[in-house]
Amino acid sequence: MKMQAVRGTQDLLPQTSKRFRKIDEIAWQSAKTFGFEEIDTPIFEFSDVFHRTLGETSDVVAKETYTFQDRGGDSLTLRPEGTAGIARAFISNGLAQLLPLKYYYCGPMFRYERPQKGRYRQFHQFGVECLGFDSPESDVECISLGFEILQRLNIQNRTVLEINSLGDAASRNIHKDKLVTYLSKFEADLSEDSKVRLKKNPLRILDSKDPKDQEILKNAPQLKDFLNDTSKSFFDRVCEGLSLLSIPYKLNTGLVRGLDYYTHTVFEFVTQDLGSQGAVLSGGRYDGLIEQMGGPATPSVGWASGMERIALLLDENILADSTAIVAVIAAEDSAELESLKLTFELRKAGISTELIYGGNVGKKMKKANKLGARWALVIGSRELESQKFAVKDLVNGEQQEVSRDQLFLKLKI
Ligand code: HAM
Repeated sequence: MKMQAVRGTQDLLPQTSKRFRKIDEIAWQSAKTFGFEEIDTPIFEFSDVFHRTLGETSDVVAKETYTFQDRGGDSLTLRPEGTAGIARAFISNGLAQLLPLKYYYCGPMFRYERPQKGRYRQFHQFGVECLGFDSPESDVECISLGFEILQRLNIQNRTVLEINSLGDAASRNIHKDKLVTYLSKFEADLSEDSKVRLKKNPLRILDSKDPKDQEILKNAPQLKDFLNDTSKSFFDRVCEGLSLLSIPYKLNTGLVRGLDYYTHTVFEFVTQDLGSQGAVLSGGRYDGLIEQMGGPATPSVGWASGMERIALLLDENILADSTAIVAVIAAEDSAELESLKLTFELRKAGISTELIYGGNVGKKMKKANKLGARWALVIGSRELESQKFAVKDLVNGEQQEVSRDQLFLKLKI
């Protein structure tokens, strides 16, 4: 039996957990001010929830899902992303009468990808979904929340917002016909994946990383040239809104995203600082998804962000913990129990307190320093009798004697 984590998974040791907690805290606080509520859906779903929605020919479905049969014979899939599960939950809980809805979520996702820096097989996303919003301003609102979170995490200046429009279904169908005609001329030279996609889902070819495909794509008909007036004016308003909020963006007509459910606006905040895994927060509009899954027509927009990638970009400063710790030190055996009681009472009063175990006072004091404690409280029989305690400031070395009542006031900073 190998005593190691499965390839592409990682243990979140305290240093990383601390980062994840901070990210979730800031993201959730920001989402709350934007009027979002929290939702949590199961980690696995019936396979169809993902296989029928994300696109049979998308990399995620074709190569990356963790799909298995459970003991009852059902085909289940570990969620590779959050949107399809939330759409399923919206339908199965009959939430249509509550529309519009704004949801925030955070949790693990699973994709069988080739692991590298910033890319894992179990990774974590926080994300938002705005269900029942059809105006371009809601796209702007949704993107502005992502921007705000990146700003509050102090990493927005290391990213560039790239946006594109995939237009509505009518625009995409016209483009699709032109694209198939063009690509068919080069069919023999396309990669094996793209040959399959040419029959099943030609738009996916635009997402190909294969160098030969990319060469052929250079002269392919561009979607932007086939956007109808409705699609164009929708996208213009999104761009106008972003400018109005002073959110810098870059048009990227090659941005098609890896999942099939998108319509109109798609976007990614991309960084240069993580090698090839540059997308840190990405999403778009998915007007047809819920209807395609059997629910009512529900225009929607959302995004998700990879916590591992954000954690890699996060500056130490933002993690600085302002909580001052009190170290309680029993000077003799007979004071251990009373020290435990005082520790409990201080904690109940909301003061972060550590009871220091083992060794004499000198050794315990060293441990308190190593812990980064702000104050040390040494308790012996004399202190217990007089109920007066010596509080030592471990930063400047000063010592002050305070009564038990004053103690709580002094330490509650
Ligand atoms: P996605 O672009 O597939 O979109 O993933 C969103 C983010 O998750 C990426 O920008 C990246 O930061 C992170 N991510 C993806 N795969 C990995 C991985 N293997 N390891 C580490 N991080 C990863 C979605 O998932 C859509 N559901 C977003 C969305 C929400 N669209 C509309 N609503």
